[in-house]
Amino acid sequence: MTALAVLSVASEVYPLVKTGGLADVAGALPGALAAEGVAVRTLVPGYPKVMKALEGGTAVHAFADLFGGPARLVAGTASGLDLIALDAPHLFARDGNPYVGPDGRDWPNNAFRFAALARAAADIGLGRTPLPVPDVVHAHDWQAAMAPAYLHYAGGARPGTVVTVHNLAFQGQFPAELLGPLGLPPHAYAVDGIEYYGTIGYLKAGLQLADRITTVSPTYAAEILEPEAGMGLDGLLRVRAGALAGIINGIDVDVWNPATDPLLPAAFDARRLKGRAKAKAALQQAMGLAVDPGALVLGVVSRLSWQKGLDLLVDALPVLVGEGAQLALLGAGEPALEQGFAAAQARWPGRIGCRIGYDEALAHLIQAGSDAILVPSRFEPCGLTQLCAMRYGAVPIVARVGGLADTVIDANEMALAAGVATGLHVAPIGRERLEAALRRAASLWNDPPTWRRLQKNGMATDVSWTHPARRYAALYRDLVGRD
Ligand code: ADP
Ligand code: GLC
Repeated sequence: MTALAVLSVASEVYPLVKTGGLADVAGALPGALAAEGVAVRTLVPGYPKVMKALEGGTAVHAFADLFGGPARLVAGTASGLDLIALDAPHLFARDGNPYVGPDGRDWPNNAFRFAALARAAADIGLGRTPLPVPDVVHAHDWQAAMAPAYLHYAGGARPGTVVTVHNLAFQGQFPAELLGPLGLPPHAYAVDGIEYYGTIGYLKAGLQLADRITTVSPTYAAEILEPEAGMGLDGLLRVRAGALAGIINGIDVDVWNPATDPLLPAAFDARRLKGRAKAKAALQQAMGLAVDPGALVLGVVSRLSWQKGLDLLVDALPVLVGEGAQLALLGAGEPALEQGFAAAQARWPGRIGCRIGYDEALAHLIQAGSDAILVPSRFEPCGLTQLCAMRYGAVPIVARVGGLADTVIDANEMALAAGVATGLHVAPIGRERLEAALRRAASLWNDPPTWRRLQKNGMATDVSWTHPARRYAALYRDLVGRD
């Protein structure tokens, strides 16, 4: 096997900057690819936290003017990752959310911030910096998706390009007038270029111009070819279906390991579940729930957005409480949902526990202490919390969409008889079906041997990056024509 060099380009990377699963993927895939003979360097925006982590790094390249100010590429290692930070203070030197300002609106210069990231990636790919030229430039989501466009319009020899769609709902659309300021040639503004319904579409550009497209589950790869999940891009995706592949995500099984997790009160694994009972009691305590080992605890760790279907859960709470279950929810996002859950906590004290915010340690405790994890998403490209749930012995109750459908085996009669079920599917997702699933969960909870079987099957499921990384490695090799 020849070593293959990949430049991964992402706007967030765990543990340095994270708003969602993209960071987890960008942070864990490089390590798994190393085992496949693929050397990954990751280009990330030089947010304050990134620059701090790379304090000991080396400035390897300078841009006199990158969209309105000087910038540098700083290379170094942090958290086991081989990183290149795009240090551009005029674009990235601000704390807080990487995409939205304190007023809840997108940062006004996002077009230039993420064009700069893509442009830097293209310059590395074209050998315009002293950094080694990669075989493949792999761009994640719209924030990096202009990299294939800059490489394409440079003309001439260039690395192979891959765009991965983590979420088609976020597309990065900007006014057409920015074409010149973004340094793109006039002919780029075309249907077969970066033009998208009268605007410049960053994700559209990547989907049009990358050599390969991947998304994070086979089912989502099929769903986005249809109008409902295609979000305006299904037509283009159908044209490019031959270049599209769905590769399921894994999770970092070292970060998520109940046998060694320092964030848990006690260690446990599939054979020794005692530590799980301790986590459950600690969770009930932490969330203000009645400490009762017999109560079915349902957990949620999620962004609170329309995608995640948690408004349906708010509506279904009377059934959840009526079944004698408890809810432990951690999340942040849409104010209406935050208020909805806060109100439910006030209405059903001891039964509904909510924590609004972002809390890594509590996320681990919820996975370890809940009996089941709810993921009622309207769409879900992959989803990672159901994978964490299986590893931690919480039974996932998921909408049968996207990666949720691909990773959880529904406890229907046949799957139960075959002994292979790992969770519950809700389909089609909606309030009534969700309520029915809550009732089904409560009745399975009252059948301990069956519940234990679901739990053990989940814990035995391989949710690591091993197989997915092999698929990415094969895709890269195929793309650059190497065995
Ligand atoms: P998405 O990327 O759409 O938000 P995923 O399930 O792929 O959904 O990934 C979400 C990731 O973010 C998981 O690692 C999950 O544990 C984490 N997460 C989500 N919300 C919170 C929160 N409020 N606190 C801590 N971790 C969270
Ligand atoms: C996106 C999706 C989620 C996926 C994650 C990582 O945020 O919403 O389903 O797991 O990206 O690929």
